[in-house]
Amino acid sequence: MKEKIERLLETAKKIELGGGEQRIEKHHKSGKLTARERINLLFDEGSFVEVDKFVEHRCTNFDMAKVEAPADGVVTGYGTVDGRLVFTYAQDFTVVGGSLGEMHAAKICKVQDMALKMGAPIVGFNDSGGARIQEGVDALSGYGKIFYRNTIASGVIPQISVIMGPSAGGAVYSPALTDFIFMVDKTSMMFITGPQVIKSVTGEEVTQEELGGANTHNKISGVAHFVDKTEAECIERIKELLSFLPSNNLEQAPIYTIEDEINRVEEKLNEIVPVNPNKPYDMKEIIKLLADNGDFFEIQPYYAQNIITGYIRLNGKTIGIIANQPKILAGCLDINASDKAGRFIRTCDAFNIPLLNLVDVPGFLPGTEQEYGGIIRHGAKMLYAYSEATVPKVTLIVRKAYGGAYLAMCSKDLGADQVFAWPNAEIAVMGPDGAANIIFKKDIENSDNPIETRQEKIAEYRDTVANPYIAAQRGFVDDILVPSITRPRLISAFDMLESKRENRPAKKHGNMPV
Ligand code: HXC
Repeated sequence: MKEKIERLLETAKKIELGGGEQRIEKHHKSGKLTARERINLLFDEGSFVEVDKFVEHRCTNFDMAKVEAPADGVVTGYGTVDGRLVFTYAQDFTVVGGSLGEMHAAKICKVQDMALKMGAPIVGFNDSGGARIQEGVDALSGYGKIFYRNTIASGVIPQISVIMGPSAGGAVYSPALTDFIFMVDKTSMMFITGPQVIKSVTGEEVTQEELGGANTHNKISGVAHFVDKTEAECIERIKELLSFLPSNNLEQAPIYTIEDEINRVEEKLNEIVPVNPNKPYDMKEIIKLLADNGDFFEIQPYYAQNIITGYIRLNGKTIGIIANQPKILAGCLDINASDKAGRFIRTCDAFNIPLLNLVDVPGFLPGTEQEYGGIIRHGAKMLYAYSEATVPKVTLIVRKAYGGAYLAMCSKDLGADQVFAWPNAEIAVMGPDGAANIIFKKDIENSDNPIETRQEKIAEYRDTVANPYIAAQRGFVDDILVPSITRPRLISAFDMLESKRENRPAKKHGNMPV
């Protein structure tokens, strides 16, 4: 027995060394941690349990029969993060470039199945040369099986993808099917076709970093949700994200004891919105003044910055924020903002996270670029996602709420359970400037002093129509609040809504305009 135990320990140790010391050194030099180091940073100390350590590939094509691939290039298992069960797989680039063959895929599928059965989040570290070329269709089939499981688990357990190296070709579609994508500056890359292929097909020259680096996907494409400077910082952020999420769709997010005052009156809120409706301000300041301890965990902070998405806690409970940002594009909704918000609303709804919508929106962004790009279809995603969501929905109109964008930011008619407005709110079909030009066209044209008349008519329109009282008289706004007491009123509203149950007609699934 002693010998057998020794052999077991030796074999395990060898497997744990992955591609060996030389390759690990090269890996470290490129600024990356190994698969096992990443896992150790993610999980509570000593909690990680490995599954399938002894799995080996079965490929005999080319010289593969001679190739040793410890753990077949992926470490899989489970453990706890802040005491809660989480599953993981971490591709090991030091073993055949972390490439994915039949058995490597089978290991990932096994932990995906376990995570789904146990109702626990799964965090996948991607660091791979993609489909293992020698394994041909077996490798492709492996990816297909992973995509299928990503889809089946979608909306049931949180799925988090971490890109910590290459993710190329069709391999990018597993992360794309998950809820959140994390990237690390300079060492992560994602693309369907690499620079060489692009050059040979289109003649276009682009570096890997420009094409699929963390900045590209966080700022331009919107594929990724987070970027961090180091892998360690990235893993800390993953843990923070997990703290806002429930383990599955049948649970509530964890509730934290807070040090902040529930009834905190925040005088600054009475002054934060400029009197001049055309003057911008930073909506994030309002979010932080409302949140427990001023903490705001922003999601996609660099993409479509005209809309803000993220999590705060109110009285210790996770709340999803969707807020217009008047500082960027005057807070207009456009294609990218609609996509960003639509997806976030659905993520929250799937995981029982109530929504708080902070509205200061002058409308949809005008222009041929937007119309040709399908703003009609993209904007509809927000209307769809809000109408479909059955979680508690609270809307606060901070300043402007105009036209279709008033509806798209979750008005009463889209199912908002509570709508509040601040006294300076302007709720109307369109902004006073545009409206005066249309309905007072003749008065302005016939006036001896058209400029003055126009200004008078704009003021008349604003006083008569663009205020919160008409909407409140009709019950579209439940209450007009002194801004300083907004935090306690929001906490009270979400407490009241905690037992909300809303049924929808039975159907296979809706047909969201994707
Ligand atoms: C088999 C692979 C591999 C792969 C890398 N390796 N990718 N082996 N299949 N896909 C091996 C290399 O041969 C090498 O082995 C080791 O991993 C490390 O790779 P290097 O090239 O030395 O590393 P580096 O210079 O850092 O370059 C990394 C890389 C490059 C950019 C990822 O390896 C690369 O371009 N690989 C191929 C990428 C690719 O085209 N994959 C297929 C994508 S299509 P040795 O023994 O020399 O150390 C795809 C389809 C999925 O994935 C479809 C799903 C539907």
